[in-house]
Amino acid sequence: MSEQSPAAAGEGGEIIELQHLEVGFEEGIARVVIQRPKALNALNTEVLVELDLVLDELAVDETVRVIVLSGGGDKAFVAGADIAEMAEMEPLEARAFSRMGQAVLDQIEGCPKPVIAMIQGYALGGGLELALACHLRVASTAAKLGLPEVGLGLIPGFGGTQRLMRLAGAGVAREWVLTAEHFPAEEAWRVGIVNRLFAPEELEEGTLALARRIASQGGAAQALALEVMRRGLETGQGEGENTESDAFGLVFATKDRHEGIRAFLEKRKPSFQGR
Ligand code: CAA
Repeated sequence: MSEQSPAAAGEGGEIIELQHLEVGFEEGIARVVIQRPKALNALNTEVLVELDLVLDELAVDETVRVIVLSGGGDKAFVAGADIAEMAEMEPLEARAFSRMGQAVLDQIEGCPKPVIAMIQGYALGGGLELALACHLRVASTAAKLGLPEVGLGLIPGFGGTQRLMRLAGAGVAREWVLTAEHFPAEEAWRVGIVNRLFAPEELEEGTLALARRIASQGGAAQALALEVMRRGLETGQGEGENTESDAFGLVFATKDRHEGIRAFLEKRKPSFQGR
């Protein structure tokens, strides 16, 4: 990573030191690393607040084309919501924690920049839910994924029950939720939860190659396509197609579409600005 940003702007514009996230930038790719390796990067309230702040900034940073989210250390992407923090929660606090997690993960899913989860180890509970909110998931063959909440007497609370059903179907989602098993990455890939699998030593380069390819495409079109697909998941085919044709019209107003079409006709590679 060429540059580190240890701080993010808070709601009032004040600079907030990041305790649990590392943010680096490289050729249009923002790398966000959750750094709580001693707790296997478990999501506590502080991590969620920092993710919220950082994503707000990256979403509007014109130099950023793609975001890669990962976990620090070699053992876990994220091993879930913080069990120690949840141990003391009253029901209303737990509901608020769930809503907060859902809101941050919705923000990731709604991000106009493609977000890739890079999973090198455990992605469990809230950690898998975080990965499911990303637009793509790539994993090491050594990774383990699952929703072990019922083994703690809990249920997934960061949107996972809903996202897993939409992504892999109700049958797979019920199996994953009810068994609380840790599934090998290959099984997650087989049922469509993971897009690409890499040997552990190839995960980083494979992920960056994917990110670079995505970063070289028309960013304005990608943002609209992501929005159309997200809205389509919430509505039916007809509504989805209406949104699609509106966005298809809108994309004709972008510089990227002029550049993309001109480059094709001039038989050269396009140079997109994401606008
Ligand atoms: N929350 C808080 N701390 C966690 C954690 C979590 N989700 N997962 C691991 N840790 C901590 C452990 O307590 C341990 O801390 P100490 O060294 O201080 O004891 C440290 O991380 C290392 O973990 P282990 O010693 O357990 O490592 P291991 O290799 O033996 O096992 C593991 C790894 C199988 C991932 C195991 O840590 C584990 O099962 N973790 C919990 C996974 C889980 O149940 N996640 C779901 C949480 S509930 C949830 O996410 C709710 C929701 O949807 C919102």
